[in-house]
Amino acid sequence: MNPYEKRHRELKATLERHNHLYHVLDQPEISDYDYDQLFMELVELEKLHPELDRRDSPSHRVGAELLSVFSKQDHRLPMLSLSNSYDLEDLKDFDSRVKKFAKLSGPIEYFIEPKLDGLAIELIYEDGHLVRALTRGDGQTGEDVTANVKTIRSIPLKLREDGVKLLEVRGEVLIFKDAFLALNQDQDEKGEHTFANPRNAAAGTLRQLDSRITASRPLRFFAHGIGAFEGFSYSLQSDLLEQIERLGLPTTSKLCQICPNIEAVLDAYDDLAKTRHKLPFEIDGMVVKVNSLRLQDDLGLVARSPRWATAAKFKPEQAQTLIEDIAIQIGRTGVLTPVAVMTPVLVGGVKVTYATLHNAEEIERKDVRIGDTVLVHRAGDVIPEVISVVLEKRPKKSEPFTMPSRCPTCGEKVERFPEEVAVRCVNAFCPSVFVESLKHFASRRAMNIEKVGDRLLETLVEKNLVTKFSDLYALTKKDLMALDRQGEKSVQNILDSIAKSKQSSLERFIFSLGIRFVGEQTAKHLAKHFGSLEGFLAADETALMTVEEIGPKVAKSILDQLGKKRFVQEVERLIKAGIEFKIKGPARVSQVLQGQSFVVTGTLPVKRDEAHALIEANGGKVVSGVSSKLSYLVVGEDPGSKFQKAQDLNVKILSWEDLQALVK
Ligand code: IVH
Repeated sequence: MNPYEKRHRELKATLERHNHLYHVLDQPEISDYDYDQLFMELVELEKLHPELDRRDSPSHRVGAELLSVFSKQDHRLPMLSLSNSYDLEDLKDFDSRVKKFAKLSGPIEYFIEPKLDGLAIELIYEDGHLVRALTRGDGQTGEDVTANVKTIRSIPLKLREDGVKLLEVRGEVLIFKDAFLALNQDQDEKGEHTFANPRNAAAGTLRQLDSRITASRPLRFFAHGIGAFEGFSYSLQSDLLEQIERLGLPTTSKLCQICPNIEAVLDAYDDLAKTRHKLPFEIDGMVVKVNSLRLQDDLGLVARSPRWATAAKFKPEQAQTLIEDIAIQIGRTGVLTPVAVMTPVLVGGVKVTYATLHNAEEIERKDVRIGDTVLVHRAGDVIPEVISVVLEKRPKKSEPFTMPSRCPTCGEKVERFPEEVAVRCVNAFCPSVFVESLKHFASRRAMNIEKVGDRLLETLVEKNLVTKFSDLYALTKKDLMALDRQGEKSVQNILDSIAKSKQSSLERFIFSLGIRFVGEQTAKHLAKHFGSLEGFLAADETALMTVEEIGPKVAKSILDQLGKKRFVQEVERLIKAGIEFKIKGPARVSQVLQGQSFVVTGTLPVKRDEAHALIEANGGKVVSGVSSKLSYLVVGEDPGSKFQKAQDLNVKILSWEDLQALVK
């Protein structure tokens, strides 16, 4: 094996080990920074040596080329479904059926698992390597989503033990509740559509033709069973999960339990129904499985469901209530969103008054009308959703709801763009659009004006004290004291936090301007690329298209904004008001290191990030691995093996002081 192959193998194994520690066991051993360094070394090595065996390479985890369709593929064994039980009686009946069919009179041992509310998939490992991943499809034939599944970091690309010839691992792909909320917020910030619940978000993400998008979203996977197998054996369902875990796959074993009889199952069901809301992900019931594999085999199937298992569904947390009104909410991108205003009702212990109706198409599909009685539930335990209309209770004189043709705030005609379901108010002066943009501007991840909340911003706009972002920086004590319920101390806090927000960074500032499709990540790339506000404002299409992750749609949106005099003038006013950027990232100061590559190793008198920033600021490139092509190795105290390697390869060595002298 040549040294590159050896290093490549080492890197693959190390990275996968850290993936497992971080994503499956939740016990990381190295920092994200160190992980990224190793990852970059792997990617570079693969670029230089395309002949390396990339079969289980973690480099697949960032996504692959765009697909036009998913290809179809038959399952070796059909993916079945479960019979449902809705209450304790159904569960007792299930137990009786098991006993009757198996001709047993004593208690049956069951294994219980949470019923994960995600998407069923099958991972096919051949000789220990993940070769394919299929969706359930119709149970016989699924879709090949391998590229997407490889981006899910908790799924091992290679099993952690040898000797398994074939193993089809089955389980659910899902998104955690907090990640779902963050994803929706991010989608909202970018002006893209949001998802109704975590399940839809997971489904939309798994079925992305662009696996780079999948890679950017936090999908998770938990295994709960297997399909075909060879070179693998088990005799109890409870062992199966343990063995799957040993092979490196995540399961929900901590929430599973052996129950010696059906009575214990009934207790477990009650317990889980009470604690389900505390779990980080959605479950919609509990799966009860006969624990003995031998007995499972004896029981076999009926229709398309095994006789040895049942899904004990939780009572749907639904309630009926009245739609009193359909209000229109206006977002900062001008999108009009219909919202049901309902007679407050308890759903799963939480009071619900509002539910989004998403858009006109959705209202039409469900035919929701003012005065209707509807069935609501909390979608994904998080967002209330109208499921359907109770038609028997519809009042005689009701009329279908139509979206307004004019913005309810400013009265301007709304527009519908091709390929979008949403209608928008495109009036640049619409007060509602402005208030929402202002809330975004002041929000934590944008300018972070801590003491200025949404309500205060609404009041400031209402009283005409703020008509553009920069007005915030001109507010006086007198202005604020004149508002209701503002004491001297809180006014001072508000002014202090406005002043504090002036110390910002270019990436936050660009993000806060609320340019359509420019979310936090894009703002970061823009700041890094252009290095200064002047550079960004002067960007043209060619320059924008070379920025990481920016395509024609985003570039056009940025250019549209930069072309507006009003926008540029407001940016200038904000800078005049005193907004400053900490120099973060490589603001270009010179090009003296142009074309040179650097690796930094050992302990320097400054943080490593700072050394990298200095190199990049002067046009140099920071790489992670030492090769004969490397221009310089910058060495601090206690350097590791890179120092030796660089010496062996005759790479030039610099101290921190040498580097500083070089860029002076
Ligand atoms: S076992 C024979 N265990 O629920 C079917 N399924 O209708 C074997 N599900 O499509 C499935 N959590 O995707 C099993 N702990 C769990 C599960 C689970 C969720 C899904 C599964 C299946 C559906 C059953």
